[in-house]
Amino acid sequence: MKNVFVIFVVVLVATAAAKKGWKLRQRQQCKYDKSAWSDCDTKTNTVNRVLTLKSGKEGCQQTQNQTITCDRFDRLQAWKIKKAESRRELQEKKHHRKERQQEMKENKQLVKEQLKRCRYEHSDWSECDQATNTVTRNFTLSEGEQGCEQSHTITITCDKLNRIQAWKAKKSDRKQNRIDEKLQMKQERKEKRKLEKEQRLKCKYDKEDWSECDNTTNTVTRVMTLRDGEEEECEPIINVIISCSKFERIQQWKARKMERKNEKKENKMFIREQKNMWKENKKIVKEQRR
Ligand SMILES: *[C@@H]1O[C@H](CO)[C@@H](O)[C@H](O)[C@H]1NC(C)=O
Ligand SMILES: *[C@@H]1O[C@H](CO)[C@@H](O)[C@H](O)[C@H]1NC(C)=O
Ligand SMILES: *[C@@H]1O[C@H](CO)[C@@H](O)[C@H](O)[C@H]1NC(C)=O
Repeated sequence: MKNVFVIFVVVLVATAAAKKGWKLRQRQQCKYDKSAWSDCDTKTNTVNRVLTLKSGKEGCQQTQNQTITCDRFDRLQAWKIKKAESRRELQEKKHHRKERQQEMKENKQLVKEQLKRCRYEHSDWSECDQATNTVTRNFTLSEGEQGCEQSHTITITCDKLNRIQAWKAKKSDRKQNRIDEKLQMKQERKEKRKLEKEQRLKCKYDKEDWSECDNTTNTVTRVMTLRDGEEEECEPIINVIISCSKFERIQQWKARKMERKNEKKENKMFIREQKNMWKENKKIVKEQRR
């Protein structure tokens, strides 16, 4: 019995789906002219309208008589009105937004152009006027061509000023924090380097030459072995592994450093020679005077 029931349901669902599909196809393929809905027939509590085929393929019904209950019709009408209304509202909102955006854009452009030509100095904000909940700030022309306004006043609500000032404070706080953080990190790095240097100075290693670049791992290595009789906290063997590119960079940096050192040396020597020459000349002049 249960099985029969299940089959029955399945058949029902299938038929419903098929009917829906057929209706959909009908709607797509058969286009109808629709008459106005009739008045509500109070006896049957229904309204109806007649659809007459406008265009469509074979199999379209020539006419259809659509009947729905008056309640449903009322609900449908109400829904349609609401929908139209909300659509209109949306359209209006969109239109307004567009207008506002356009206006703002134009204003901004204007202000920008003004600013380019006219420079102003401004006063501090006035105290908040409790009655109007506004603050003002005066701008007076400091630099500008003809056509610049001599002065103007900007008025905003006290709340807005508060928000702006809070925002500015927050921003500057954040900036300060970032600066502090950076400073701290720098300090930490410095200390770490110092420590490492101390460690290095304390622990003396015999260093092997660097290996060739291993192009499967893209690394170069070298082994450093602690010299006899050094501190206890020193690692006995350190295997240094760095990437070939880093090695390359270090080599280049060393070469540059060496070059600069040599240059400095040469400069020093040159200056010393110059000084000597100058001294000699002085001596010669002195002797000649005698
Ligand atoms: C449509 O159906 C309704 C109610 O079934 C009936 O009163 C009306 O006469 C029908 N109209 C047409 C054009 O068939
Ligand atoms: C702005 O200027 C007006 C008129 O000169 C003055 O009364 C007012 O106090 C000024 N406001 C500020 C905030 O300086
Ligand atoms: C590593 O590079 C050298 C020279 O470019 C090449 O002769 C050698 O075959 C490479 N080895 C591997 C494992 O790729």
